[in-house]
Amino acid sequence: MMKLVAKTIVVTGGASGIGRALAIECARRGASVALADVDLEGALETKVLAESKKRGGAEITAHRLDVSSLESWQSFRDAVMSEHGTVDGIINNAGVTFTGTVENTDYDQLERVMSINFMGMVYGTKEFLPVLKTRPEAFVANVSSVFGLFPMKNQSAYCSSKFAIRGFTEVLAQELKSTNITVASIHPGHIGTDILKSALKQGNIVGVELSSREQEGYVRAFKAMGLSPDRAATTILNGLEKKKSKIVVGRDAVRGELLNRLFPRFFVDSANRAVP
Ligand SMILES: NC(=O)c1ccc[n+]([C@@H]2O[C@H](COP(=O)([O-])OP(=O)(O)OC[C@H]3O[C@@H](n4cnc5c(N)ncnc54)[C@H](O)[C@@H]3O)[C@@H](O)[C@H]2O)c1
Repeated sequence: MMKLVAKTIVVTGGASGIGRALAIECARRGASVALADVDLEGALETKVLAESKKRGGAEITAHRLDVSSLESWQSFRDAVMSEHGTVDGIINNAGVTFTGTVENTDYDQLERVMSINFMGMVYGTKEFLPVLKTRPEAFVANVSSVFGLFPMKNQSAYCSSKFAIRGFTEVLAQELKSTNITVASIHPGHIGTDILKSALKQGNIVGVELSSREQEGYVRAFKAMGLSPDRAATTILNGLEKKKSKIVVGRDAVRGELLNRLFPRFFVDSANRAVP
């Protein structure tokens, strides 16, 4: 067990959704949190929410960080070290989704998704590894997806980035086996967040024409029908406290992961047939 109480945890993508819920739940468990997001205003709102739930002497700080920029990571790491003194765990959670086939996704779009989702996680891991190595016990947790476990059509950029996160994380887990650092890949299923809303706002859905009414309907349904971010955060942090190396989040994800392991061809084909 690695209890989070009195630890210092970095959470990226802390302004919204799963990252916000993770920051609040870490604080509730008595951890200090350095939460970061490209959306500083949202991160500051999370800080207020986390402060209202925090236990013990937990310190909460909010930072602006663009995970796709190494320079941004370096200034963030320096700020965290000067404000918190140390770090015991990092949850690389920030990410964007993108819907588009291989044919209709531009190179620029693919590179942007890879630079946020994949390189963002690489930078976070490498910038904080030196301090994590100095701690008695520590973790690196990288948020992939069920789409990092099996392929889904129209998700070429997103699946590529999430498979890459899993690959990098599983290699790191082998390299750090029998050290003080636990390495975990996290695979959520459908979680009810604003990720689809952001994707629509950023033009990250290509190849489908949607009226603004349809967009609003999809955004509302996506949020309402997924597992709550709070429940997702509880599952993730329970898994990290138990030092699990693979954390599958939500009933849909557990079922998908199992079927994909038992009957990979059948499962992948039937799951993809269900997508228009
Ligand atoms: N919601 C789901 O169904 C689901 C399923 C599987 C995996 N995930 C993964 O969970 C993670 C969190 O997603 P969410 O659903 O909470 O989404 P969200 O959109 O609610 O939150 C994502 C956060 O990441 C931040 N972000 C985006 N680009 C950034 C950048 N360049 N630098 C720093 N921060 C940036 C956003 O500002 C936002 O606050 C993502 O990695 C996502 O791929 C989500």
